[in-house]
Amino acid sequence: MDRLSIPMPDDWHVHVRDGAMMQAVVPYTARQFARAIIMPNLVPPVTTVAAAIAYRDRILAAVPPGVSFQPLMTCYLTDGIDPDEVARGFEAGVWVAAKLYPAHATTNSAHGVSAIQAIQPVLERMATIGMPLLVHGEVTDRHVDIFDREAVFIQRVLRPLTEALPTLRIVLEHITTAEAVAFVEQSGPTIAATITAHHLIINRNALFEGGIRPHLYCLPVAKRETHRLELRRAAVSGNPKFFLGTDSAPHPTHAKEAACGCAGIFSAPAAMEAYAQVFDEEAKLPRLEGFASRFGPAFYRLPVNDRTLTLERGPTDIAERIEAGGAFIVPFGAGTGFAWRVLNG
Ligand code: NCD
Ligand code: ZN
Repeated sequence: MDRLSIPMPDDWHVHVRDGAMMQAVVPYTARQFARAIIMPNLVPPVTTVAAAIAYRDRILAAVPPGVSFQPLMTCYLTDGIDPDEVARGFEAGVWVAAKLYPAHATTNSAHGVSAIQAIQPVLERMATIGMPLLVHGEVTDRHVDIFDREAVFIQRVLRPLTEALPTLRIVLEHITTAEAVAFVEQSGPTIAATITAHHLIINRNALFEGGIRPHLYCLPVAKRETHRLELRRAAVSGNPKFFLGTDSAPHPTHAKEAACGCAGIFSAPAAMEAYAQVFDEEAKLPRLEGFASRFGPAFYRLPVNDRTLTLERGPTDIAERIEAGGAFIVPFGAGTGFAWRVLNG
């Protein structure tokens, strides 16, 4: 199989930032995805319907002429956020989900949730109206080893939450562990997960190969090889609870190559190329269509896109760096490339 045409995929988790950075990165996502779930961790975060509408309009203005792309907005949950505002935005079709960042878990999460009890009223409301909760699933307890934070979050926070609110629809975002795969597989149809291309490709050794590799540092951080293999098994399994979310998270080079470098991998420039390579390596290319184009829409209760995207076997070159408003960003796969390319992107 050297060529593959699938319904246009969607990216169910992406950071496109704002301003000059947004102008530079949106075209990469819009080239290969018809829709994308836009993360709300701006500074300040997107917590009101008005802010989400304004952000959506700025993103649309950054889409190249002639390209059709729909940003799906999300609400950033904060302690004590007004359930009426969250429900109003969902019912008006402004945002499709709300995002739970545990406070201080990752980039721009300072305004995140201090304890799940602080958002109990909004979670109950979301369960009632069928609004999905998107979860950054890591505890922030400094005594918990960074490589264990996802597994501990599942036990301490997610399991009790799903027991207390069994109808709440939840996407565990960018899963990195065998524990997360097992949790999702064992849960009912209200629980799903996204998987990034980079977590399917690198394990934690890649962060230290020949020296420290800041462009491969993201959160949740890549785990050991056994976990990567479980993620690959889940991604290519054909189980509709696992679908595509790149978590492409650009930062300028000076913020990555620093004494305290930011977390985030910029994978948008060759995301479908990377996923296609993984499915090909697993000899499961026919299953890419479900993972990239069908299971996400099914969970979000949206139609499958009617345009198609064609991928072809063959090397794709990825720029060493991309300019964004006078700064540079280093994309995932820079220098090495992937074994597939997008034809009509
Ligand atoms: C994301 C970012 O930079 O906004 N970083 C990351 O490492 N994934 C935040 C997030 O999704 O955790
Ligand atoms: Zn993210």
